[in-house]
Amino acid sequence: MTLQNTEKKPMLQMNNLSKQFKLHLQHSTELTVLQDFNLSLNPGECVRLSGPSGMGKSTVLKLAYGNYRASSGEILVRNKEGQLLDMTQASARTVLHLRSHSIAYVSQFLRVIPRVAAIDIVAEPLLESGSASISPEQAREEAARWLTRLRIPESLWQLPPATFSGGEQQRINLARSFIKPRPLLLLDEPTASLDPSNTQTVIDMIVQARNKGIAILGIFHDDAVAQKVVNRTVVMRPFNSNL
Ligand SMILES: Nc1ncnc2c1ncn2[C@@H]1O[C@H](COP(=O)(O)OP(=O)(O)O)[C@@H](O)[C@H]1O
Ligand SMILES: [Mg+2]
Repeated sequence: MTLQNTEKKPMLQMNNLSKQFKLHLQHSTELTVLQDFNLSLNPGECVRLSGPSGMGKSTVLKLAYGNYRASSGEILVRNKEGQLLDMTQASARTVLHLRSHSIAYVSQFLRVIPRVAAIDIVAEPLLESGSASISPEQAREEAARWLTRLRIPESLWQLPPATFSGGEQQRINLARSFIKPRPLLLLDEPTASLDPSNTQTVIDMIVQARNKGIAILGIFHDDAVAQKVVNRTVVMRPFNSNL
């Protein structure tokens, strides 16, 4: 990954972003979660989204990853050619391309793929089409390194993570995202279910990613964790437009 020529240019920019949810079970009432939200994120900085539960923090990450469609506004993400693309206007194919090369996302919950072994779930991003050519064996070796670093016992590697504990699933999710570094990293409470040793490992992983020039937008429930990784905090208030 070469980040030199994108230094100081934002990796992610959200301009006047708004999101309303239509609540179909409630006679299509609209719930406004974001209104005129603005954010700019540079390579090498870790910005914390903070604020009370329900303020729309996870929604911001899901919008940036293209899981949710914005109601209005722009979400500009820098692609690997260095151009800013608007996620709100992007085709499904472009969204997949950005996810593969530009955006990694650690969601709060692992989306378990039935019957696929933990080690293969972690290795999979390295084997996606369009990734550097690497053999399945090499991808598994790399996955094994991340599983080891995150203290997943080897006895679990060949098992599907459906029955894993919350903390184990969270570490599979982290391994799967960190195995393929991308210049924008979205983290939704990445240490929420982890014990102190694994929390420290994840802090180290985040700081290393940041120092390599990765732009990180994160939600951290734990102030002590945030203090160790964050450069700047954006406090989300109802319809805050001056961020
Ligand atoms: N898919 C959805 N459909 C309807 N409402 C949603 C959806 N996702 C989130 N919300 C609502 O948006 C608000 C913000 O949610 P969220 O972004 O998860 O908050 P936070 O992460 O700050 O706790 C909440 O009131 C939540 O119920
Ligand atoms: Mg949340």
